[in-house]
Amino acid sequence: MSKKDPHQPEPCHFVIFGATGNLAQIKLLPALYHLDVSGHLPAQMTLLALGRRPWTDDEWQASLLESIRTHAGEVFNKKVYERFARRFSYLSGDLHDLEFYKKIAEHTCGDDVCSNTVFYLSVKPSDFGAVISHLDEAGLNKPRGRHRIVVEKPFGEDIESARLLNRVLHEHFDEEQVFRIDHYLGKETVQNLLVFRFANTLIEPLWNRNFIDHVQITVAEDVGISTRADYYEKAGALRDMLQNHLLQLLTLVAMEPPPALEADALRDEKVKVLRSIRPIAKQALHAHAFRAQYAGGTVHGVNVPGYQDEAGVERNSVTETYVAAKFYVDNWRWRGVPFYLRTGKRLAKSQSMIALRFRHPPQQLFRETPLEFLEPNWILLSLQPSESMHMEIHSKQPGLGMQTHTIQLNASYRHGREVKLDAYQTLLLDIMEGDRTLFIRFDEVEWAWRVVDPILKHWAEQREFIHTYPAGSWGLPEANRLFDKDEQVWRNEL
Ligand code: BG6
Repeated sequence: MSKKDPHQPEPCHFVIFGATGNLAQIKLLPALYHLDVSGHLPAQMTLLALGRRPWTDDEWQASLLESIRTHAGEVFNKKVYERFARRFSYLSGDLHDLEFYKKIAEHTCGDDVCSNTVFYLSVKPSDFGAVISHLDEAGLNKPRGRHRIVVEKPFGEDIESARLLNRVLHEHFDEEQVFRIDHYLGKETVQNLLVFRFANTLIEPLWNRNFIDHVQITVAEDVGISTRADYYEKAGALRDMLQNHLLQLLTLVAMEPPPALEADALRDEKVKVLRSIRPIAKQALHAHAFRAQYAGGTVHGVNVPGYQDEAGVERNSVTETYVAAKFYVDNWRWRGVPFYLRTGKRLAKSQSMIALRFRHPPQQLFRETPLEFLEPNWILLSLQPSESMHMEIHSKQPGLGMQTHTIQLNASYRHGREVKLDAYQTLLLDIMEGDRTLFIRFDEVEWAWRVVDPILKHWAEQREFIHTYPAGSWGLPEANRLFDKDEQVWRNEL
């Protein structure tokens, strides 16, 4: 799955619906720029930015420059930037108007590259249907083998709407043309999890219910919802993060080794995990899921408003910005091991990690030492901001007596000189090359909705009240009710 550098796909047209929106400005355009900097974009590749705003080319260029300067995060390279900017044209129009698609066709057809086009839907999920069917009406879904369509998560807002969206997709595109993107699968440490598990005979024999007490998956963010109220109010943390990113991480932690590292073999194993997750019964929901919303507070010393004071958010909104949930994977490997998942915005800091806590040793040999209680071993996989793996083990403190202390074996994932592709860069290259290994198959989406559906339904009935946590905290102690044992606690630090 790793990319050899530099590596160029065949030339294509890359069409971005929603190019002036948040996701495009923050993630997509900077990722494409980085790919140009590192020499991954073929010379003939063109980019077509689509938006509602009736901008001239100059206005588009000013916005592009702003996006790259703000979000590309490295020393600005004027020469590469000019080459990058020249690849773009901007077209404004209404997504619901077929004429707009005819104009897109004029832009993308009429040259050799025409038969190889990527349509990236960086638009509201409610617009997906219109775009997909109009692309077909304008003949832009053909040739089937070459034109691709990329759909961002969330795929639908519950299981029914996800099925509906999938039906629409399949009416107009073949499955081979569809790329359902979950950018967490493009993160290096997420991919490295597979290597860590399946290339190390040291690890794999321990990776099961006989040795592991519980698993924690945390994606904590210090940012708020920014200008995304329109989307976020309807989504909330459960749909925005847990149903996709966190459950995907869970599948990679829990899956069996696939027979080969091929798209479908991998996805088959992930689906098996999702199917094995025990459905949460209504009466057990309180013990399995907790939600909350950020109130005003201080993040890294700066005062920030509460969720309900963000622009576009309804007063008395009960949309959750924090969710914690407990799942059991009922199979031979994991039966009885709780998986605790949590994610939230405006938490104390941005920190994403997978933490596996091991069981206590069967015998407490060192009870008589001053250290009465030995902390069990942990394996910590940090996804961001640092990319590293830590193993916490015990060793004897030097000197007289049998005192122990915890030491961390630390395998930093990255070294200074290595080329770094971020998640979007990796996935964009895969899309251009037609490699679907790191993309989601519909049955994964469907089973993931099935897992969260009881929680969604329960919360939809509870419109009166939501707990609040101060921005800049780690949430609320109420989330501890999920733990099966008193000694289990959230792990916030590496
Ligand atoms: C997106 C969510 O999918 O992931 C955002 O819609 C979230 O709400 C983002 O902030 C987090 O991604 P990352 O890569 O910054 O962890």
